[in-house]
Amino acid sequence: MKTLIPLTITAFLAVGCSHQKEEKQNIYTDDRSQFALKQAYRLDDEAEDKHILGKSFFTIPWAEAPSATTARDGLGPLYSANTCLHCHPNNGVGLPVENGVMSRSLVMRLSLSSGENINNNLTMTHGFLPEPTYGGQLSIHANTNTAFEGKVSLSYQNIVQKYDDNTSYELQVPTYKITNLQYGALHKDVNIAPHIALALIGLGAIEMIDARDILIHEDVDDRDKDGISGKANWVFNPESNATELGRFTWKAAAASVKQQAANAAHNDMSLSNPLYPGDNCTSYQAECLEAEKGSHDFDLPMKRLDAIAFYLKTLKIPKERKTVHFAKGQEIFNNLGCVKCHISEYKLSDTNIIRPYSDFLLHDMGEALSDGHSLFLADKNEFRTPPLWGIGLYEKTSGVMALLHDGRARTIEEAILWHGGEASKQQMAFKALSKEKRDYLVEFLKGI
Ligand code: HEC
Ligand code: HEC
Repeated sequence: MKTLIPLTITAFLAVGCSHQKEEKQNIYTDDRSQFALKQAYRLDDEAEDKHILGKSFFTIPWAEAPSATTARDGLGPLYSANTCLHCHPNNGVGLPVENGVMSRSLVMRLSLSSGENINNNLTMTHGFLPEPTYGGQLSIHANTNTAFEGKVSLSYQNIVQKYDDNTSYELQVPTYKITNLQYGALHKDVNIAPHIALALIGLGAIEMIDARDILIHEDVDDRDKDGISGKANWVFNPESNATELGRFTWKAAAASVKQQAANAAHNDMSLSNPLYPGDNCTSYQAECLEAEKGSHDFDLPMKRLDAIAFYLKTLKIPKERKTVHFAKGQEIFNNLGCVKCHISEYKLSDTNIIRPYSDFLLHDMGEALSDGHSLFLADKNEFRTPPLWGIGLYEKTSGVMALLHDGRARTIEEAILWHGGEASKQQMAFKALSKEKRDYLVEFLKGI
């Protein structure tokens, strides 16, 4: 703990100094401590109050109703965790394993393959068909008088492969086992897709990117024949009651930060809210449906939902740190073609330039990474290119590195080596690099 104090003070001073020089909002932080992703924009009093209100609802654990703390009751009956922060530690990435067992920040999404002719309301509004008895996500916890849905265990099998220079590396293949099912067997056609909690970086800036600047990179039929297509996900947003461009989550299934916050509240904690009303129970779960409700119409009324989204959108982005081989690593990143999907730069309407390293489009990443889950226009093998800014901080914020949609990659190298499908060419080019060049590339990625 000793070193934490000076670090925090340095970060505070750094923000204080740049404050003098800059006229427009300083959206970057120099902080590289475990608190790097928790630094707030400089806000006026009213906005700061809203940020703090949102932070409190993001941070403080929710309680089961009835409870003495009526401001925060309404958790469950079925849930995965009791605070947002648990799955997003220090606002960073979730962990696959915690204290030797599978972590709750790795959630199991349940779906049925929708078949060709099914186009009912659920697939329209949710983008997939939930498992009939258990719903769209397995809840591993429940309130006192309700049975949880089931538990999950995770094991890894190691496979050894080689770089072109004959150095070997190891990748871990995850296997999940669902046990203790409390509501009978899962549907025979169920698909189980593990998704890890994403780091919450630069969400306000991502929301500000002009949709045209994203759509310009779409190449669904791969007309330029570079093997990379890139497809937008068009998703239903209950707030506007319209179909919008998806930019958030592993499969780009949420159009706005607020929509994802509402979705998380409903699915992960069963907090009812205006965008996703009601509790997270299916018609087969009587105890869940009959359980005591929170003390308000919505556990999370619009004002609180707005505050949570505002909190996340007013968090600073870690500043690039240009270490000795940063430029060399960047050149390799560009030459290998990583930048074709991990698009570096966008200009926002407020004239800020951001460098998220993502095209926010879907790509087929091959069979080995497939999660079998179709979501709106995202197919089983398709994922949104995740932004890469801040990945060098994951170890600090969350304690360990966990990359890819299920957190299976323990290092940046492993994440690249898992790339397949549209990114096969880039993966092979990476494998052909010398050790020195691989290290430059990783050094660059840790600095962005
Ligand atoms: C049980 C664990 C869990 C809890 C609790 C949780 N999240 Fe998440 N969060 C996730 C997972 C998993 C994802 C990735 C979702 C996906 O792609 O399927 C995610 C993704 C997100 C994203 C999208 C980030 C991006 O870059 O696209 C936002 C925003 C978010 N969560 C906000 C919240 C908020 C706000 C809360 C509290 C109301 C919350 N989360 C609670 C697990 C959790
Ligand atoms: C065809 C598009 C595409 C190309 C080309 C590509 N990537 Fe990716 N990258 C993705 C997608 C999609 C994912 C997420 C896959 C998943 O989660 O299963 C990803 C994930 C990653 C991750 C993990 C990020 C995280 O938050 O978990 C890293 C690191 C990464 N890519 C680096 C690279 C590097 C370096 C290259 C070049 C050698 C590269 N990528 C080429 C699309 C691409």
